[in-house]
Amino acid sequence: MVKDISKVLFSKEEIYKKVKELGTKITQDYEDKDLVIIGVLTGSIVFVSDLIREIDIPLEVSLIKVSSYGNSQVSSGIVKINQDTDINIEGKDVLIVEDIIDTGLTLKNLVELLTTRKPKSINICTMFDKPERRKVEIDVSYIGLKVPDEFIVGYGLDYAGKYRNLPYIGVLKAEIYAE
Ligand code: IMP
Ligand code: MG
Repeated sequence: MVKDISKVLFSKEEIYKKVKELGTKITQDYEDKDLVIIGVLTGSIVFVSDLIREIDIPLEVSLIKVSSYGNSQVSSGIVKINQDTDINIEGKDVLIVEDIIDTGLTLKNLVELLTTRKPKSINICTMFDKPERRKVEIDVSYIGLKVPDEFIVGYGLDYAGKYRNLPYIGVLKAEIYAE
């Protein structure tokens, strides 16, 4: 896999340092709350599993798989649930955990959808953020690392379904996209 990477943007150590910081912050903010972590599949699995072990309060974890309707290049932003959570979030303090926020369309719609289920509160935590690409305004409470407008892989993030298992964040060589 390493041979396909042109550069490393964040090392395993840099990522984990951030995850610890986020976990500490979330622990403080949710101390007296009824926290439910909802990880967005599939990209967030690595981040969710590291993050929950850095949160030192009782919590529940569930996963949701969503997809945008229509052409993925021009995201309509209308989300469809492919796999729903198995937890009733009514009256709970929900924290949606995402791998990366790009246009923000998916999350904006996911927040609207989950809000109809009457959680007590709903916030967002993302490991990576590409603010330059944002198309809709969205309130993100916890952001790990900001990334430039480049396509990245690793730490859960994929290209054509692969590279999620890289422990660091890298940029692929141009020839990989050309294949
Ligand atoms: P958006 O914010 O609705 O545009 O979509 C965000 C989703 O696009 C993320 O959850 C990722 O699945 C995917 N994505 C965006 N940028 C990247 C990237 O650089 N690498 C891999 N996946 C990405
Ligand atoms: Mg995703």
